[in-house]
Amino acid sequence: MQELPQGRQIPGPMLRVGLAFNLRRGVPSADTLQAEYDPPATVDAIAAALAAGGTTVSRLEADDAFAERMRANSPDIVFNIAEGLRGASREAHVPAICEMLGVPCTGSGVLAQAACQDKPFALTVLRSAGVPTARFWEVPIGASPPAAHLPLFVKPARQGSSMGVTEGSLCRTRAQVAAQVRDIHERFGEPALVESFLPGREFTVGVLDRPLRTLPIREINFAEVPAGYPPVYTYKFKKEWDEDRFFTCPPDIAPALSARLEALATGAFRALRCVDVARVDLRCDAAGMPAVLEVNPLPGLSPGFSDLPCMATVGGLSFQDLVLAILDAACQRSGLDWRRGA
Ligand SMILES: Nc1ncnc2c1ncn2[C@@H]1O[C@H](COP(=O)(O)OP(=O)(O)O)[C@@H](O)[C@H]1O
Ligand SMILES: [Mg+2]
Repeated sequence: MQELPQGRQIPGPMLRVGLAFNLRRGVPSADTLQAEYDPPATVDAIAAALAAGGTTVSRLEADDAFAERMRANSPDIVFNIAEGLRGASREAHVPAICEMLGVPCTGSGVLAQAACQDKPFALTVLRSAGVPTARFWEVPIGASPPAAHLPLFVKPARQGSSMGVTEGSLCRTRAQVAAQVRDIHERFGEPALVESFLPGREFTVGVLDRPLRTLPIREINFAEVPAGYPPVYTYKFKKEWDEDRFFTCPPDIAPALSARLEALATGAFRALRCVDVARVDLRCDAAGMPAVLEVNPLPGLSPGFSDLPCMATVGGLSFQDLVLAILDAACQRSGLDWRRGA
């Protein structure tokens, strides 16, 4: 940038940001990828936040023509919220195309996205890094469930957004475990993940990078769900019970537990080689000790609805601040100056 006599600077050309997304069309059902995709309002809100930060935004839908769209547009950086079209590593596809074309991309890269999408693999990495998890067993198609201590929790090994997580996921008998495992094999065509059931409180922790920090912790408030409904954050819960009373942020917990949750969240973030942003889901065992359930390297960013924007608000960050914090982390990593057009 050129320095003017009064100390003012001539702004450089604006940073060109390509916003990569998968658009939700129609009403999602519990076992289609549409459930993970973003509604137009979320894409609009992110585009507006990026533009307000002084960047030029192009919308690059991450459909089958994404690579061509990238070549035609050649953005300086991609802001990635795309969940992917298909395949076991679908969340890694946009980062992979960006890496291949030499364009930086916000959020975790190919390795972390693919690792986090494979829950048993991610749990293995976490355990080897000393991060506590539930006990777990991967059950491939055709194999029988473990004869492990009941109750057990059964979910798909490679889905997100609570897809395949229902009231029946909490299994108190061997017959329930067998039926639930079979159901996952049939509906999702992938291994089932059987875990020891963690009966304690559930929290989610937002992590931002450069510098590494956490947002205010959010607790899932199971006391508010209808009587008889299990204390599980099911697909139905996520879809139907989104009012404030179902969540507490920050939660009423001892400073030691809060510090432990934050340490586990940042430890899991690092162990899985996440960068820029992630959200870590944790749950406590019968003794109140927290364990990591999963790491989400593409956390939802729907304003006023998703965990991360809600946590950010409590922490004094507007939605725009949050979006620009993610962009800023990615720009620092890639040696770009996003403020040059401001
Ligand atoms: N081992 C477990 N014990 C108790 N509840 C669990 C366990 N695993 C998952 N859950 C419940 O299921 C929900 C979804 O599981 P999670 O691993 O976070 O997958 P998703 O990617 O679908 O969010 C959690 O938020 C939690 O309520
Ligand atoms: Mg989760």
